[in-house]
Amino acid sequence: MKLFTLFALFFFFAGIITTPTSAHEKHFIKHLPAPPGEAPKQYFEVTRPLAVTNQPPSCTLPLLTHSFCDTKGQPPVTAEYSPPAECCWTDVVLEFQAACKSDQEDRIAAVWLDGVELLRTTTPQPGSSGVYWKVSKDVTKYSSLLNSKEISLAVMLENSVNDVFTGAFDVNVTFVYYDSKGAAALGNCVRSSETVEENPIAMTVDKPMNPPVVPDDGPADSIIPISAKGEHGFWFSIQTDSQVVSKEVTIPQNAYKATVEIYATSHGNDEFWYSHPPDSYAKTNNLNAENGNGAYREVLVTIDGSLVGALVPFPVIYAGGINPLFWDPVVSIGAFDVPSYEIDLTPFLALLLDGKPHKIGFSVANSVPYWLVGGNLHLWLEHGTEKIEAGVIDTEAPKFKLELSTEFKGLDGSFKVEMERNSEYAGWVKSKKGNLTYSIKQELKLENEIKYENDARHKKMEQKIKDEVETRVTGERGKQISQIKIKRKFPLKLVTKKEIGNEANSSSLRTELENEWSVKVSGDFNSKVSNSQECSGMLGVEGNFVLSGTATMEQSYTYKDDNNCYSRKVSVADMNLVDDKANLLCTSSQPSSQLGRRLL
Ligand SMILES: *[C@@H]1O[C@H](CO)[C@@H](O)[C@H](O)[C@H]1NC(C)=O
Ligand SMILES: *[C@@H]1O[C@H](CO)[C@@H](O)[C@H](O)[C@H]1NC(C)=O
Ligand SMILES: *[C@@H]1O[C@H](CO)[C@@H](O)[C@H](O)[C@H]1NC(C)=O
Repeated sequence: MKLFTLFALFFFFAGIITTPTSAHEKHFIKHLPAPPGEAPKQYFEVTRPLAVTNQPPSCTLPLLTHSFCDTKGQPPVTAEYSPPAECCWTDVVLEFQAACKSDQEDRIAAVWLDGVELLRTTTPQPGSSGVYWKVSKDVTKYSSLLNSKEISLAVMLENSVNDVFTGAFDVNVTFVYYDSKGAAALGNCVRSSETVEENPIAMTVDKPMNPPVVPDDGPADSIIPISAKGEHGFWFSIQTDSQVVSKEVTIPQNAYKATVEIYATSHGNDEFWYSHPPDSYAKTNNLNAENGNGAYREVLVTIDGSLVGALVPFPVIYAGGINPLFWDPVVSIGAFDVPSYEIDLTPFLALLLDGKPHKIGFSVANSVPYWLVGGNLHLWLEHGTEKIEAGVIDTEAPKFKLELSTEFKGLDGSFKVEMERNSEYAGWVKSKKGNLTYSIKQELKLENEIKYENDARHKKMEQKIKDEVETRVTGERGKQISQIKIKRKFPLKLVTKKEIGNEANSSSLRTELENEWSVKVSGDFNSKVSNSQECSGMLGVEGNFVLSGTATMEQSYTYKDDNNCYSRKVSVADMNLVDDKANLLCTSSQPSSQLGRRLL
């Protein structure tokens, strides 16, 4: 015991004498002099081009132009939305165009229509020569809203300015409408002024991050936001791990299918949650414990307090994360189009179909301040039916396991987290399609290991998130109608090594990162998306400011489904795009061409 105290004391002083140790990754601010006369730089996220963007649009609706200056704590900026008159469309793309002319930190932003979140996005860190970028997102799945008149479009981009960071973000939001199915020629055009009875054309929803979950149902008939009141944006701000944010909703009684779409991003002291040691480490070593609570986080969804879904979100790294030079000019996976997650609530419809209000809630297990979480409840309705009958089928209770192991002596040690949640849900819904049983099986796993060496100047983190969800629909007498299995894998590896600088406040850091988004869908529909980034570099930092550095980033994106293929490889060295090749052909032996930039 005495020896232990001595050790702790010794390392505590060692920590002070060398450089203050923060027990987690830091958010940096790129502060490099721009070469004089350098033109504004275009940033982009590597993704698959949207199918519709090769076609001429039917119409374009510019909705909002605003310069976001000192907006933190302010209400979002709004514009009235009505669909364009006399325009025939089947698909809609949201275009978020932005520019910033001077130094600024990276920021979080979102676009909502009638309180429903259409896009969650983050900004790059502009240098003094300026940056510009464009995010295009297929928002066809929100068609029921896009068909509504006189509703409010709201945009929040939380920015603040001071003497050093003077940059304001100029943003344009535009909706672009496409008639990709030839609806006009077929006389199937749905005019904005008409009420949509039934979708005449099967729509496919193009989601570069997430392949379609159930391809046949098309966009939902009604979307209800599970969001905040909107004084500071419609996202809920979650400040503690016991906080449950919720909204009471009363759903139409003719709903035969329901999903909840969730956006969740971590900020402030929880931005790098996956690199957090447990509190005992900070306490023993007399370190700031604000970035603690270990490396287990889970977003939980409840109906009237009962758990109905869980997810661990993909770790989107913002432009100031790990090494800001990695994300210039190609941003990290999901930084411009933060992925959302869909949880099928159809097995639980019986809980919602009684015509009474019910509370849909979100929480983030083990979180420290703060998370921004919001959801959209998508409902498919049966026209001409007053009330759908449904029941919840008893299944085995979910199995949850959380194992933590912590070993450290002074500042060095290792911390392990293993979480596993196995759930099975089932319910039946009787509609015109028959009495169908929806069974969902989920296996969610989080494995995280952090190692500190060299008085915690060398940190290594390896994390694996695995999520397998199988949805089976069976008819009367157990006949299988559809089956889809979605396997998500998000491996992340991080290495940071601090080399002591000349002064207490400055240091140089070696940084390495590997991050991957991989989703495989099999069953009625087969597809696979894999998107990975491998980065390596050095940083010269003073406080949180990056004053010098080098970086390389290699990215590989591949997509394959039953009919299409796409692949793209990008290389960046010291903030210059050195290679960008895309290939649309399915055979890997075909020569690739310089398609990538042109397709965007
Ligand atoms: C926004 O639109 C206006 C008008 O078309 C244009 O002048 C401006 O450059 C656009 N801004 C951005 C950030 O794209
Ligand atoms: C629908 O099917 C389930 C499971 O087979 C059954 O328990 C339920 O009673 C059926 N509902 C109706 C209305 O027939
Ligand atoms: C460390 O460097 C930053 C950035 O240059 C500066 O703002 C801060 O005051 C410095 N802190 C100390 C303790 O010298």
